[in-house]
Amino acid sequence: MERAKKSHYKIAWLPGDGIGIEVLEAAKIVLDKLELNADYIHGDIGWEFWCKEGDAFPQRTIDLLNSVDAAMFGAITSKPVKAAEAELVPELKGKGLVYRSPIVRMRQLFDLYICLRPTKAYPGNPLNFKENIDIVMFRENTEDLYSGVEFNTVPKELSDVLEKLSKPFAKFKDLKENGYALSCKINTVAGSERIIRAAYNFAREFGRKKVTIVHKANVVRATDGLFLEIAKEIAKEFPEIQFDEANIDAMTMWLLKNPYNYDVLVAPNLYGDIISDLCAQMVGGLGFGCSGNIGERLAVFEPTHGSAPKYAGQYKVNPIATILAAKMMLDWLGEKEKAEKLEKATAAIIKEGKVRTYDMGGTNKTLDIAKAVAEKL
Ligand SMILES: NC(=O)c1ccc[n+]([C@@H]2O[C@H](COP(=O)([O-])OP(=O)(O)OC[C@H]3O[C@@H](n4cnc5c(N)ncnc54)[C@H](O)[C@@H]3O)[C@@H](O)[C@H]2O)c1
Repeated sequence: MERAKKSHYKIAWLPGDGIGIEVLEAAKIVLDKLELNADYIHGDIGWEFWCKEGDAFPQRTIDLLNSVDAAMFGAITSKPVKAAEAELVPELKGKGLVYRSPIVRMRQLFDLYICLRPTKAYPGNPLNFKENIDIVMFRENTEDLYSGVEFNTVPKELSDVLEKLSKPFAKFKDLKENGYALSCKINTVAGSERIIRAAYNFAREFGRKKVTIVHKANVVRATDGLFLEIAKEIAKEFPEIQFDEANIDAMTMWLLKNPYNYDVLVAPNLYGDIISDLCAQMVGGLGFGCSGNIGERLAVFEPTHGSAPKYAGQYKVNPIATILAAKMMLDWLGEKEKAEKLEKATAAIIKEGKVRTYDMGGTNKTLDIAKAVAEKL
């Protein structure tokens, strides 16, 4: 999954909105201390650019991402369609511009099909749900209910086809065009195969014992059935790894009941999104949830939290998720030694417990944590 080490890197630096700016500043402190030989190139992304330009992910940022080795991303603010339209500058209003989450677009545009989310309970973290949790989540990142094939009002020509082809659609057929909305869950054979294979390859490479497939194939028969059947086939190529499967609803219960039963998880996009946040909460919450959006050519690393408007500008939030995302980036760049050093230093700061942000019961600021980690390095 990682690339070959290089002597110099180009990293796109995308702070985005709110606390995204603050946590990325913290990540820069530790990367500078590690003396990673890199140019960090700022990219515009987020709410400001939606309001001013009608595009939260401008073409110049897409061009930048086409030219770099990897990217670090902070967080963005997203709002529903009508609220977004209301905040456009007057000259852009009424032009039919539709807000779409830049991070979802980025994942699709650059085919960042793996959302990798490690869940590790670092010793000494007072927020750990249980000690020694060590789960790695592979979430499919480009399709499923996030494929963007959606209808706020459903055109008659579409409902006519659905009525013709789908028996269960009969109960909706008399609804008006604006009487319902439709979001399509699209799971492809190729898309399912590659995320499941990525999870199995990871399990083999790192000596993991078990891969659990998360689905709802008993109800969502077509798409989740396909995902599960493909997983069963791929599992045959990895006889040394235990195959396991669970429904998404049961999974949320089992994960809390016995997290030690789980090792590597793989899921379609929406279930992966849900389970990842649950996993993050088991090891300290959003201040600890790091992730990588990984494709064949590009990878974008980020904390899983959003822009937390209520804390924006206060330098109060925990930057550990972002520091661990920087560690993931180093791993992906092939900078194993630096990645290991960074993880050790971060783990030591967590364990010592002298420098803590509010979520961990402390009074330190965002950059205090980064400086403490940098000092340990
Ligand atoms: N990937 C992303 O950029 C992303 C992800 C989720 C939400 N969002 C967007 O962010 C905005 C705010 O969403 P939200 O408030 O639901 O979620 P959020 O993740 O921004 O914050 C929710 C709460 O979690 C806590 N929290 C978050 N990050 C923390 C940190 N690093 N340290 C300590 N506590 C932390 C805070 O109490 C915060 O109020 C929305 O516009 C949403 O659409 C963006």
